[in-house]
Amino acid sequence: MADDDVLTEEQGMIRGMVRDFCENEAAPRAAETDAGRFPRELVGRLAELGLLGMTVPANEGGGGMDEVSFSIAMEEISAVCPSLSVIFAVQNSLACAPLHHYGSAAQKQKILKALVSGEKLGCFGLSEPSAGSDAAALRTTATRSGDGWLINGAKRFISNSKEAELCIIFAATDRELGHKGISAFIADTGAPGFEVGRPEEKLGLGGSSACDLRFENLDADSLLGEEGQGFEIAMTTLDAGRIGVAAQAVGFARACLDASVAYARERESFGRPIAGHQPIQWKVADMATEIDAARLLYLQAARLKDAGRPFSAEAAMAKVFASDMAQRATSEAVQIHGGNGYMKAYPVERFFRAAKVTQIYEGTNEILRQLIAKHLLG
Ligand code: CAA
Repeated sequence: MADDDVLTEEQGMIRGMVRDFCENEAAPRAAETDAGRFPRELVGRLAELGLLGMTVPANEGGGGMDEVSFSIAMEEISAVCPSLSVIFAVQNSLACAPLHHYGSAAQKQKILKALVSGEKLGCFGLSEPSAGSDAAALRTTATRSGDGWLINGAKRFISNSKEAELCIIFAATDRELGHKGISAFIADTGAPGFEVGRPEEKLGLGGSSACDLRFENLDADSLLGEEGQGFEIAMTTLDAGRIGVAAQAVGFARACLDASVAYARERESFGRPIAGHQPIQWKVADMATEIDAARLLYLQAARLKDAGRPFSAEAAMAKVFASDMAQRATSEAVQIHGGNGYMKAYPVERFFRAAKVTQIYEGTNEILRQLIAKHLLG
């Protein structure tokens, strides 16, 4: 990583601290986590290290760190344990961040503090069986009941939902109004009428759950933001989340580059290390070049966000480029490892499987290309 001189001293220190945690604590558990074990003790350690709610201001109980620090922490964790990186991303970007930006003082006191301390995990209930990319087409409804609301409907593939205690649910409070009639609610996943389905069997990220949710007359009195503000909350939350996904993709690719370089120096064919063969040299050269380019893109988006400037298109560009790059880099890493790369004994196959989802979640790359084009063309 050639960016030591572009990080501040504090950002460099945060990266060093996260790297130590990753090497000493997360790496030894990465294989069993990928095999399907939820890494509860690692999540607890993230909380102890102040890495949940990293960008939440200190006066709200958070780490008071900037978006760049969050992104580089994301890259570090992703380069070691893909499943943990999703848990980390959802808690920081999709649970703590909207609570910080849109929560009332009482919600911050009661809910945000519990999320930041790791006492509770949160999840983000937007996608539905028939509303993925077209988020405004969601069918879950919330109807007024006394002082509160009754929520009915279903959600699909909600990351972290098996372990989460809290869920931000997006529901239509007025279907006539389209996206302007969507509101966000905070609900307790253990409440009557809140059903969490079986975790899906996925291609990768085995330690992080993705479940379907069903709501039947779920009593919700905790509106997040204003009535009708839900679509804005979802969109602005995802804008920032995409910077994290870009950093995650860079982490996956970097892990594969490092493993490939080490393997190429060691593995011999035709009487010399395969590092001496030009096809291998060109592969690692392309991987390193594209990884650095993707990193600069996510840092650019993070810096714009930290400066309080618009960053929606730049976050989308970073996510599109980094996730497409991670597809190529993780695949080439398996190729460099030959038959060994296809085996679970070598870590590259784990990153290869994990990388695919970065082109899909938090906005498919097709939707994000549309978003980038809209910024250019209107
Ligand atoms: N910030 C603020 N407002 C925004 C916005 C943004 N980024 N994007 C759109 N809006 C506003 C628009 O200004 C517009 O407001 P007005 O009506 O007042 O003018 C309104 O929202 C509607 O905008 P569009 O007409 O562009 O909306 P649309 O319905 O055509 O589509 C979309 C928008 C970009 C396609 C959106 O639906 C989208 O982002 N889809 C992808 C959904 C997604 O990312 N899902 C991820 C699920 S969560 C997940 O994956 C987590 C995980 O597992 C880890």
